[in-house]
Amino acid sequence: MIDHRTLRVALLGAGSVGSQVARLLLEHGDDLAERSGASLELSGILVRDLDAPRDVELPRELLTTDAENLIVGADIVIELMGGIEPARTHILTALNSGADVVTGNKALLAAHGAEIFDAADQVGASVSYEAAVAGAIPIIRPLKDSLAGDRIVRIFGIVNGSTNFILDKMDREGLSAEEAQRIATDLGYLEADPTLDLEGYDAAQKAAILASLAFHTEVAMEHVHREGIESITADMIEGARRAGFVIKLLAVCERLPGADGEDESISVRVYPALISRDHPLATVHGGNNAVFVEAEAAGPLMFYGAGAGGVQTASAVLGDVVSAARRHIAGGVGVGESARQSLPTAEIGRITTRYQITLEVSDEQGVLATIAGILNDGGVSAATVEQTVDDEGTARIVIGTHRAREQALSDTVARLAQSDVVERVASVLRVEGE
Ligand code: NDP
Ligand code: HSE
Repeated sequence: MIDHRTLRVALLGAGSVGSQVARLLLEHGDDLAERSGASLELSGILVRDLDAPRDVELPRELLTTDAENLIVGADIVIELMGGIEPARTHILTALNSGADVVTGNKALLAAHGAEIFDAADQVGASVSYEAAVAGAIPIIRPLKDSLAGDRIVRIFGIVNGSTNFILDKMDREGLSAEEAQRIATDLGYLEADPTLDLEGYDAAQKAAILASLAFHTEVAMEHVHREGIESITADMIEGARRAGFVIKLLAVCERLPGADGEDESISVRVYPALISRDHPLATVHGGNNAVFVEAEAAGPLMFYGAGAGGVQTASAVLGDVVSAARRHIAGGVGVGESARQSLPTAEIGRITTRYQITLEVSDEQGVLATIAGILNDGGVSAATVEQTVDDEGTARIVIGTHRAREQALSDTVARLAQSDVVERVASVLRVEGE
């Protein structure tokens, strides 16, 4: 048996993910030592409440509320507390005292990533964060390492498990949004503050992290266009189904080539969108995540699996811990983040995609001609038009557009809303994945 050097590992947080990381570190110590070349000694676990009930039984003597004492002297600090403070301060303390850091904290990285990565660069330490995006799915390392020789053009996918669970329940079981949300809450799928999931903040934080990495550009949260699933109704899900689509909350990060005197820019956005039922994303059910990466040389790649869950996410954390341990043993500086390109982030009005517009209209002659005229004046071309009248006598027109610029589309929808023949714009959804 090789006599490995011992590295002290401090764990901050023993919740859903942290308790599983602690368990695996304690149970698989020998295996992890073989893989990392270091004996990983769990030196302590920071918690708020020493007596709080825990899903996993942890040695009582490892629990502590003394952050400073635990962090200073550690070789690797794993931050799994969540939130901004005191997580940010603890990570900066860890880096400044020579430790490598592993974190799953997307909220912190989306808000303070630049500060943390700069601090790591200053001391030559590494900050790893595979667990921060899409739970167990390896997506950060492929973007950072495996695809480092390629040029990423587009990333899009489902990066929030709880909203996917809700939309999937509505689609497959015909539940209302309220019923599906109640089940998600009962199963503990939603964050303590559910608006983080429902209003798309969690997905936007992950999109900001992915775009920063893929396009070598710091992407601030305020530059991520964000729409959540609050407005999605059972009627909209049913309408999508009839038209051969499913509604998914998507994160889209893409390069926009310069055109008509515009510079190359990037677009980072989160919104519920229509996906063809034939598309692989349509078959991502429950709380799972899936991310498509399109790279110039590699072409399209798909990453799929558990986007959350304590033990699943612990797998991603431990992969980072093994890498950090290898770096610590080998010496040399950690591989920093690259923000060399500094591409501007485009307003949502610059994107082009297809749209589906659902209008409630007066059921009389000439309505279609009026609507066609407004579309034509706005430079939006219709690919499909379907008119139905339901049992209550409400006439609906569903227009599928050809690709259009978002700005032209939203101006046109505003004019439709003002038109005498349109009673209500029932929904406007983007169509993605084509
Ligand atoms: P939990 O809320 O389950 O656990 C948080 C832990 O941190 C608890 O043990 C808590 O202590 C401790 N803690 C929080 N604040 C403090 C503080 N001020 N001082 C000391 N200890 C503190 O979080 P999760 O395990 O769910 O998530 C951890 C991180 O992983 C988050 O950043 C999250 O976004 C990320 N993540 C989570 C996923 C998941 O599926 N849960 C998936 C992917 C990423 P105590 O137990 O005493 O209350
Ligand atoms: N709230 C997140 C989700 C947890 O639903 O995906 C995992 O990051």
